[in-house]
Amino acid sequence: MSLKNDLIIRAARGEEIERYPVWLMRQAGRILPEYRAVRASLSGFKELVETPELAAEVTIQPVDLLGVDAAIIFSDILVVPEAMGLTYEMVEKKGPFFPKTIKSEEDLVKHAQVDFDIEDRLGYVTEAIRITNKELAGRVPLIGFAGAPWTIFCYMIEGQGSKTFAKARKVLYTNPALAHDLLQRITDVTIRYLKAQVLAGAHMLQVFDSWAGILGQVQYEEFGLKYIDQIARAIDEVPITIFAKGAFRAVESIAKMPCNTIGLDWNMSVREMRKLVGESRTLQGNLDPCALYSSHNEVERLTKSMLNSFESKRHIVNLGHGVYPDINPDKVRTFIETVKNYEL
Ligand code: CP3
Repeated sequence: MSLKNDLIIRAARGEEIERYPVWLMRQAGRILPEYRAVRASLSGFKELVETPELAAEVTIQPVDLLGVDAAIIFSDILVVPEAMGLTYEMVEKKGPFFPKTIKSEEDLVKHAQVDFDIEDRLGYVTEAIRITNKELAGRVPLIGFAGAPWTIFCYMIEGQGSKTFAKARKVLYTNPALAHDLLQRITDVTIRYLKAQVLAGAHMLQVFDSWAGILGQVQYEEFGLKYIDQIARAIDEVPITIFAKGAFRAVESIAKMPCNTIGLDWNMSVREMRKLVGESRTLQGNLDPCALYSSHNEVERLTKSMLNSFESKRHIVNLGHGVYPDINPDKVRTFIETVKNYEL
């Protein structure tokens, strides 16, 4: 199926574009009443993730309702630890919870499995990708994704969200061998999982390292970037984006990886990052998600001001992190329309 709108792929590859492409992290989700309606008819988040027809439906909602230039498959980064043998619950209004966590080398055998068939355990994701593409009929590209090994490690050790992930960071000091063993296992599975998504029809991939920013520079090189680099090297089928939230010191290292796009959070200065990266990579981001709480005029002004700071065409427009659930979808539309009407 050929793509009618391939703007984001051209932007990722550094090819000619007529305007900047725009999408939002976490666009497929709670900001849309239409999403909440689908979700309310089900037992919970996991049922939605594991039912390919419904996952496809909510994946397409932001394309129809917001006019974004890409869809992102509706799933979660936590399906990977689950497939490895560590099941999670999504606790309403609280977030993920893993009843069992990784504490020892023995746990790895049972709860950090590597040798399994991806289609067997994560076939509901690849099936959702196939259905989504059929229904999108080439309107926009579909982004596949996974969590970065460090972020998945955080959840597998900590068992839930945390401000500091001190349990996860503790292991880096008390048992670095266990840490590396687990990170390598996650990496191996993630590479196979991402390749399965491409085979199913994902046109682009993004790796989310949401907790990159809680490690110091030296530790992030050793326990974070080393494994992301393996992933970037393994994927050559489609453009790949690396988003290491909070790790502005790592952007220079990421720019040396064979990736197409580097995600920026809103703390990062686009101008400074462009100086570091040069013209060899596309930058994605990075309006503060909270900017969408301001008035329509202000959203327009702030978005234009961000666009004016771009000194290159190698940009994909996004927020600096996922859209917050209580943002008014009309503000998102103003953001998107401002980007679409901006003359390059
Ligand atoms: O639109 C999209 O981006 C696609 C779907 C998507 C979800 N999660 C759906 C979701 C994506 C790409 C993710 C990634 C994800 N999941 C990350 C990395 C991105 C980031 O935000 O840093 C992380 C850290 C997770 C783990 C996770 N999933 C948490 C911490 C939570 C609870 C907090 C929250 O944001 O709600 C989730 C739940 C989750 N994942 C929801 C959605 C739509 C909300 C569930 C619901 O109530 O419907």
